[in-house]
Amino acid sequence: MALFSIQDICKSYPGVQAAQNVSFEIDEGEIVGFLGKNGAGKSTIIRILAGVEQPDSGTISMYEAPCTFTMAKQAADAGIAVVHQELNDVPLLTVAENMAMGLGYPKKAGILDRRALNARARAALAELHMDVDPNALVGELSVAERRMVMIARALLTDAKLIVLDEPTASLTEREIEELFAVIKRLKSQDVSFLYVSHRLKEITELCDRSLVMRDGHLVADVQMKEIDEDALVALIAGKRKESLTSKRAERTFGDEVLRVEGLDPFYRGSPFDLHVAAGEILGLAGLGGAGRTETIRQILGANPNLGVTCTLNGRNVQITSPKQAWDCGIGLVPEDRRNEGALLNFPITHNITLSSLKLRRSRNWLPFPSTGKEAREAEHQITTLNLKTPSAEESLANLSGGNQQKAILARSLSAGCKVLILDEPTHGVDVDAKTEIYSQIMRLAASGCAIILISSELPELIELADRFMVLSEGKLVASLNGEVSENELLKLCLTANSEMVA
Ligand SMILES: Nc1ncnc2c1ncn2[C@@H]1O[C@H](COP(=O)(O)OP(=O)(O)OP(=O)(O)O)[C@@H](O)[C@H]1O
Ligand SMILES: [Mg+2]
Repeated sequence: MALFSIQDICKSYPGVQAAQNVSFEIDEGEIVGFLGKNGAGKSTIIRILAGVEQPDSGTISMYEAPCTFTMAKQAADAGIAVVHQELNDVPLLTVAENMAMGLGYPKKAGILDRRALNARARAALAELHMDVDPNALVGELSVAERRMVMIARALLTDAKLIVLDEPTASLTEREIEELFAVIKRLKSQDVSFLYVSHRLKEITELCDRSLVMRDGHLVADVQMKEIDEDALVALIAGKRKESLTSKRAERTFGDEVLRVEGLDPFYRGSPFDLHVAAGEILGLAGLGGAGRTETIRQILGANPNLGVTCTLNGRNVQITSPKQAWDCGIGLVPEDRRNEGALLNFPITHNITLSSLKLRRSRNWLPFPSTGKEAREAEHQITTLNLKTPSAEESLANLSGGNQQKAILARSLSAGCKVLILDEPTHGVDVDAKTEIYSQIMRLAASGCAIILISSELPELIELADRFMVLSEGKLVASLNGEVSENELLKLCLTANSEMVA
């Protein structure tokens, strides 16, 4: 008897059929991959089986008994724990309080037993080898930590089915390993998983079976033993895989554009310098907590007391805020784009053109942009990044997670920056769109933009970057020019204090 099944689930939104007659089953102790391009309908199905949204038609059953989930609690009570793609934690509550939401709070003599609450949270976090204070406010954690906290919460619930919608976006290799170990252990206790990821390596490593969605339809239900990665990509894309990236041609760099001296992410007393030339892509490698995002913050003037000096095009500049950096021509695509960059209730067009309104004027002396030019730029980006939406006027909030990422990325790609800093640019983005983003980054570099790239996906970093700086625990542990293998780079990331490599 199947643990869980859905039959003929349909769901439409204005202008989109997000799910059409989707049926599948999940057995006890089975790890099932849930795949599909951005906007294919994965999160829609997940929101339905979590009770967050209702289907137009179709049924959900647990152990062949039909269930109706009209609110999240019913799904949770039935034994389904869901970690959504868009984190729905509460920043102003502590880690332990967030983890207790929906589970009930332990009480002693009628009042909240904070010690028990924290102990429970600490135990779940320890399973993931996470060293986070249960009393810390969730809003003060990094995106990766917040995601891990939500995963730990799912582990606390004694669920029979755990649904993870892109759990590894923004997690590091080490955190992913911890997560996989826990998933495999729970599987041996007959817990089942529905697992969404755009990273096929994870799917092949973890899953027994995969479901593939395309344009709202379930197009494949395959045992992983019976399929290889190329065939899986073909199923996702609906066509044979093209070569993922075009190996870059010999590229030439111009003059140094940006030089920043005295960076010291965690004040370890061993400051380092960073420089990047026109047309060059500098890769910042390192594991989570290595100090990559902090380095970026310091470049953008987050800590004026540190004495970081910044030279832009040979001129000394004093950068004290991201806004000022932007005025100097230094753009940033932040890691947490949804919180730091998305105007969710605004149309896609404005989300794309927000940073380049000056470039969209029909006459330079006019103080406002031309709506026609704005619309054309938006259409151009929508087509090149294959952004799935009924129209450019749709609110950003109504797009699938990956398509939101693309829209915010498009904003900076089209802004005409001298230096562009990209923090995990392809998180949550499907294979096809990744290829397109890679070529846009290359094109930008070829046009003379200096690029600083952070990516936890080493193959991506290796493919794109001309030079690498490896950080570990806030220190620069290696600087590398040219070719490097994934294993070499990973080894450098893992070994702190390794010798400087010329
Ligand atoms: N609230 C909504 N209003 C309107 N359209 C929506 C809404 N939520 C989702 N959609 C649309 O439904 C389709 C399926 O979206 P869904 O979020 O399920 O995709 P997904 O497979 O999870 O993609 P991703 O990999 O990008 O997360 C998309 O075309 C999306 O724009
Ligand atoms: Mg999704």
